[in-house]
Amino acid sequence: MEDVSMAEGANQQQQQQQQPDQSHIDLSYDQQAGYEDYDEEDDEGCAGPSPIAKLVGNGITANDIKKLENSGYFTVESIAYTPKRLLVTVKGISEQKAEKLLHEASRIVPLGFTTAAEFHQRRSELITLTTGSKQLDTLLGGGIETGAITEVFGEFRTGKSQLCHTLAVTAQLPIDMGGGEGKCLYIDTEGTFRPVRLVSIARRFNIDENEALDNVAYARAYNAEHQLQLLNQAAGMMAQSRFSLLIVDSIMALYRTDYSGRGELSARQMHVAKFMRTLQRLADEFGIAVLITNQVVAQVDGGAMFNPDPKKPIGGNIIAHSSTTRLYFKKAKGANRICKIYDSPCLAESETVFALGQGGVIDPSDETENNEDE
Ligand SMILES: Nc1ncnc2c1ncn2[C@@H]1O[C@H](COP(=O)(O)OP(=O)(O)OP(=O)(O)O)[C@@H](O)[C@H]1O
Ligand SMILES: [Mg+2]
Repeated sequence: MEDVSMAEGANQQQQQQQQPDQSHIDLSYDQQAGYEDYDEEDDEGCAGPSPIAKLVGNGITANDIKKLENSGYFTVESIAYTPKRLLVTVKGISEQKAEKLLHEASRIVPLGFTTAAEFHQRRSELITLTTGSKQLDTLLGGGIETGAITEVFGEFRTGKSQLCHTLAVTAQLPIDMGGGEGKCLYIDTEGTFRPVRLVSIARRFNIDENEALDNVAYARAYNAEHQLQLLNQAAGMMAQSRFSLLIVDSIMALYRTDYSGRGELSARQMHVAKFMRTLQRLADEFGIAVLITNQVVAQVDGGAMFNPDPKKPIGGNIIAHSSTTRLYFKKAKGANRICKIYDSPCLAESETVFALGQGGVIDPSDETENNEDE
């Protein structure tokens, strides 16, 4: 069952717009490394993506590269992971050219089999971003995984946006402190981003608040089409500078207003699928963590009879299948909240308690339990 007929979320009234100045975001990685005159010898052991300019030669021109960049392809990985039938939809890229691009990309990006041992080794080195709560990190096996999509859903005020704000800061921390040593890209569809929260969270983690704000690239999305376009821009920014996290808070809000009724459901789901595919591509390509939030609706079908808490995330099968890890947030006593693993490829269905505080997501204590915030 889909959710198109359900009432709108509680956030709609919060339409206050915030447009922080993005001009001062420091794209330092670009200035130092200059990805156009990329040095081939830097390849060894370099975890970052390969700039698309590396494909020039063998009949691939700088002009072709420009066309691809205009369509949101900025790295060799983005080409290697894209099927030919999508590459030919880029204006000016013929079938022959697409084949050539894929061939050249496959020489740089490994696409074949590897042993499980090697894969295991690589996964054990996987970076996770701390949520700010030790208990929550433990439940998640370290924190929010990079290279994957993590979805958080729950009712209003359960702390979804608070987690987003916390991670926007912790993503910047050094790796040995649970961070990703990268910037954060924040796509806000509900107008609930509050830089002042970043300031409090930065203070908690002892990082310079101005630097913390500079390292978050914020964009407000105004409709579903715009939300997708922003990912193209995101790809360009990520190719120039080290990002470790992309946030979409929340994923379905604009789809609920832009598409109405059952008649538009299939068009909506196709667009959602495209959006999710692009998110996964960015996660693969840049090794970033992707965090999306989602709203819930009351479950009205059969499952409700056996379930004491019949809530389910919206977005149907598309969101269900494209989120790697799905987390369900629920209210508990005071400022405490419960996080339940709803679906994960490697974590058991279990839950833990965390709390919300001035410093963002924190561990629960007597204080948070008694802190009635009603
Ligand atoms: N400065 C703060 N200090 C402590 N707790 C705060 C602070 N700001 C917000 N909170 C807590 O966060 C809650 C709001 O959580 P959040 O905005 O993350 O909800 P949400 O799950 O995103 O809801 P929605 O579905 O409406 O977007 C507040 O009810 C409050 O408990
Ligand atoms: Mg929110």
